[in-house]
Amino acid sequence: MKGIRGTFLDFLADPYYTDETEAIRYLRDGLLVIDGEKIKDFGPWEQLSQRYPDLEVTTYKDRLILPGLIDTHIHYPQTEMVAAYGEQLLEWLEKYIFPTELQFRDKLHARKIADVFLDLLLANGTTTAQVFTTTFAQSVDAFFEACTERNICMIAGLTGMDRPGLAPEEYLDTAETFYVNSKDLIERWHNKGRNKYAISPRFALGSTQEQLDCCGKLKGEYPDTWVNTHMSENRKEIAQVAEVFPDAKDYLNVYERAGIVGPKFTAGHSIHLDNDCWHRMAQSDASVSFCPASNLFLGSGLFLIEKAKSVETPVRTGLGTDMGAGDTFSIFRVLNSAYKVSALQNQKMGVFKGLYLATLGGAKSLHLDHEIGSFDPGKFADFIVTNPKVTSVLAMRAARAAIDPGSSEEEQARERLAHEAFGMMILGDERPVEATYISGQLLYKKTSNLIG
Ligand code: GUN
Ligand code: ZN
Repeated sequence: MKGIRGTFLDFLADPYYTDETEAIRYLRDGLLVIDGEKIKDFGPWEQLSQRYPDLEVTTYKDRLILPGLIDTHIHYPQTEMVAAYGEQLLEWLEKYIFPTELQFRDKLHARKIADVFLDLLLANGTTTAQVFTTTFAQSVDAFFEACTERNICMIAGLTGMDRPGLAPEEYLDTAETFYVNSKDLIERWHNKGRNKYAISPRFALGSTQEQLDCCGKLKGEYPDTWVNTHMSENRKEIAQVAEVFPDAKDYLNVYERAGIVGPKFTAGHSIHLDNDCWHRMAQSDASVSFCPASNLFLGSGLFLIEKAKSVETPVRTGLGTDMGAGDTFSIFRVLNSAYKVSALQNQKMGVFKGLYLATLGGAKSLHLDHEIGSFDPGKFADFIVTNPKVTSVLAMRAARAAIDPGSSEEEQARERLAHEAFGMMILGDERPVEATYISGQLLYKKTSNLIG
């Protein structure tokens, strides 16, 4: 057993629906007790330390310890292609992405990029992600092998794409090979260690009805797997989906007819949804991934975060970098974009709402909140140590916090926390992340500010 002493912040409830002061758990001097991979105990130092007199304790002073950040939508094979100039979705895929992903036929290349990718996630404080691969089974093997070495929790699966003409012939699979390979990969990887499998049709436009039906069949055969895809991202894409699926009522209906919409189904982007779609997503208990950095970079549109988090149509929502379409690996930078997208809709996202989406909200959107997302005992010890005053600007800004001198000491501490954490949400990237723990092990420790 070992202990971590410091200042902790996590969430007990969703601040979109619960008063913020009740939703957050803020321990100014806390102790996290770790037994092997898991959290054994968590509470104020004063109370808890007496119960563990012989504990070996690491103390982080003047730091803020958060549950690991969760990225619910990202593409590991696009690591090298981040920041590709000038195109919207369909042209961007054709010009930059398919040629890049073709290289993942080569397993050695796939493994090399998987290692780089996972190290970048750790340096950015991301401890769990839902990840797209390619149409090549060896790219899935390479990825899960790299995850297994780190004992890290990742959701991933073979990315299906069989529609003739949409990508180079040699990149496409068929409904049959997708089904057979997915089944084999599920048998070999799903729930092996911390690995989790997502049946992953790339997007409606990329798959034939036959391939989507295979996804429904696989979900029926392996009901506790995830389903991960894209939906309603780009206007031109949506128009083409309507053309190739003339019998479907709308984009979401293409997936509904395949029998894959429900719990553990995540639709990345989901930007251009009408009221009826929001109702159906809420009713079926499906999830969305809000990918603002990508939505802005590819010019796709403004996600309706307040609609997703409304009382009328509450939809499980996590954040996604969607890197390579997103221009960052950092969930803090995604929060920067999320704030601006909400500001453009006159609904500014507060720091606790943002950090909730990045941690427990992300875990809930992936149906993993029994394992990750907060410091509750029994969960995996996946957490990050951040320095909210890491840069000179952040430090200067922290010193200028407007704290109400008439409020209680507790209130002043919370105001200071909100001010400093918001600074990190807007100005942060990989620099505030000083240490990343996975399954109780220190897997990343910052040595300079030059990573990423
Ligand atoms: N739609 C289908 N494939 C992709 C992809 O790789 N990235 C994004 N952003 N959207 C997609
Ligand atoms: Zn994507």
